Amino acid sequence: MHDGPNGAGLSRKHILDQVEASLDRLGTDYIDLYQIHRWDDDTPIEETLAALDHLVETGRVRYIGASTMSAYQFTKALYTSDIEDYSRFTCMQPEYSAVARHEEANLLPVCEGEDVGVIPWSPLSGGFLTGKYERDADAPAGSRGEVSEHVEQKFTDANWAVLDEIRAIADDHDATAAQVSLAWLLAQDVVTAPIIGPKSSEQLQENLGALDVDLTSEEVERIAAPKTPQYPAE
Ligand SMILES: NC(=O)c1ccc[n+]([C@@H]2O[C@H](COP(=O)([O-])OP(=O)(O)OC[C@H]3O[C@@H](n4cnc5c(N)ncnc54)[C@H](OP(=O)(O)O)[C@@H]3O)[C@@H](O)[C@H]2O)c1
Repeated sequence: MHDGPNGAGLSRKHILDQVEASLDRLGTDYIDLYQIHRWDDDTPIEETLAALDHLVETGRVRYIGASTMSAYQFTKALYTSDIEDYSRFTCMQPEYSAVARHEEANLLPVCEGEDVGVIPWSPLSGGFLTGKYERDADAPAGSRGEVSEHVEQKFTDANWAVLDEIRAIADDHDATAAQVSLAWLLAQDVVTAPIIGPKSSEQLQENLGALDVDLTSEEVERIAAPKTPQYPAE
């Protein structure tokens, strides 16, 4: 949030300062889950973990988590905690959806093997998997695709093929594409729960309907079939 070497990254100083600032803004005494964002090449992971462990020991934070890094980096962090007897990351926040499956070839096997919870970000790929976009049409008015180039980057042949399967399966279940897309994630054993990003209470209600959609293993495979996970992402 600030410039300068002490205003960014995962140093002890920045983490301890920013937790106090967050507690002030939230008006609370502690944070249930405190997650680091990505990897900081300029700070040894031992320093970051010692600072996070201090937060847990002093009651500022209950659990710690991490987000989006290489399998090597995350494994190193977990084993450093084990060696130093620091609090361990209990969850990982990776990008994961039916069209963003690169973490199947990177972080997800680590999470499975190390019993770490998985809370995927952009589970609807920023809205692409709701089916609101069409191959040959402008983005709908007011949609993220109107303002963010990230959405159009999803418009690949393989991703449209995944969406075609999702739309067909949604028709069979009398559900929406968003619900089937979220149900696909929930059907993955490694996933704890996705971090959904609805923009309205209507979208929230629709997305919660995913809990009532039970996909067969054959449907789960049909959605996955058009893509082969590769890391880094294509
Ligand atoms: N750790 C990281 O590096 C990282 C990176 C990115 C995000 N995140 C976290 O992940 C959270 C979720 O990411 P995200 O917002 O990209 O999630 P997402 O669920 O993939 O996309 C949310 C967007 O999809 C559309 N949408 C959602 N439900 C809909 C529905 N039922 N019908 C129609 N459109 C619907 C909305 O777009 P419209 O605006 O078009 O309505 C909404 O803004 C974020 O809040 C953020 O905290 C973390």
